[in-house]
Amino acid sequence: MGKIKADFLLHNAGQLVTAAGFSERPKRGAELADIGMVENGALAAQDGVIAAVGPEAQVREQVELDRDARVIDAGGRVVLPGLVDPHTHVVFAGSREHELEMKIAGMSYLEILARGGGILDTVRATRAAGREELAAAGRRYLDQMLAHGTTTAEAKSGYGLTTGDEMKILAVIRELDGSHPVDLASTFLGAHAIPPEYKTNPDAFVDLVTEEMLPAVAREGLAEFCDVFCEEGVFTVEQSRRILLAARRLGMRPKVHADEIVSLGGAELAAELGAVSADHLMAVSEEGIRRLAESGTVAVLLPATTFCLMGKQYAPARLMIERGVAVALASDFNPGSSPVNSMQVVMGLACRQLKMTPAEVISAVTINAAHALGRAARVGSLEPGKQADLVVFDAVDYRYLMYRFGINLATTVIKKGKVVVGG
Ligand code: NIG
Ligand code: FE
Repeated sequence: MGKIKADFLLHNAGQLVTAAGFSERPKRGAELADIGMVENGALAAQDGVIAAVGPEAQVREQVELDRDARVIDAGGRVVLPGLVDPHTHVVFAGSREHELEMKIAGMSYLEILARGGGILDTVRATRAAGREELAAAGRRYLDQMLAHGTTTAEAKSGYGLTTGDEMKILAVIRELDGSHPVDLASTFLGAHAIPPEYKTNPDAFVDLVTEEMLPAVAREGLAEFCDVFCEEGVFTVEQSRRILLAARRLGMRPKVHADEIVSLGGAELAAELGAVSADHLMAVSEEGIRRLAESGTVAVLLPATTFCLMGKQYAPARLMIERGVAVALASDFNPGSSPVNSMQVVMGLACRQLKMTPAEVISAVTINAAHALGRAARVGSLEPGKQADLVVFDAVDYRYLMYRFGINLATTVIKKGKVVVGG
């Protein structure tokens, strides 16, 4: 039998975590603990696509390396699939460090928003910024994410809230996707807040979103998903349903910022609409958990947000896993509720605050996170035919990644078979 050609080989991985076997459907329950670990593993790729993966002796047997192939010695360390961050608001202008004192003084997130601050602060800055300025800021954040091991991420609009400004943000996302190693999945989040000009007539803003913004976004093919901030004082369940149904008719798959602060029924709505994900869920109801478990919707948990909001109530991850909900993790990177763009920080918080085991966390930031973006056929695990996106960490046991906290352990990042960080 002929050997498989390869232009890339990573070898001597003490623990090669593949997360394999779940490209068709997300992991649930006990499956989350199965991370497909290979000891003394190797991975070969050709043209950015994985050609062979497994024990080193077996991979070397299967492949014929090009004479000028790139060969990386992992030095006995841990290697993971490139991390997938399925919920970010990475394109925005400015920052909101002034909110720290307000939060310490006890002012709530929704109170700050109701006073015209919070998201609306960032909306003012983002409306004032040009495309180049936004792209430069976004690129800097993506560089940081890549350096910490994220190779695929979601990026939402939502700090424009006019048709032109939302389109400007989505155009920046498209530009970054085409010019930065991190692959981006774009989400239209025009319904992120009620802009001040519609404060007294929020339904008219919902009309603007469904009748003007969504058709414009669809015409330009600028978004794969549509999301809504379904929350008390923001968008009701009924308004969210209207927006997401309109988006679905235009070919955008729904996502929902669901039950973040108040238990409104966002999880139930996500399940009803066949949303690709329901995100946040700190205040999800028992009924919401039941509906998610019966659905194909992935629950994306964002512990860095709860942490930064100084919240006491984290999402009930253990209960969701027990009940069979497909769980993933994301950073929620944004200038307000989560100025965190390192998935390693999220992983450490998930163990300590959500009581997820290190193995469950690995599944939640790789293959299940890929499912939350509808991209599990391409990324999220190390299997032949999938993209050669992988990360070498300065650790010999994968649990060390969650055990240490607040430092960057990623030493080499490989995107589509090319070294993009380290060497
Ligand atoms: O996911 N909840 C709504 N949106 C973001 C926060 C955005 C902001 O505060 O700027 C979130 O937490
Ligand atoms: Fe968010």
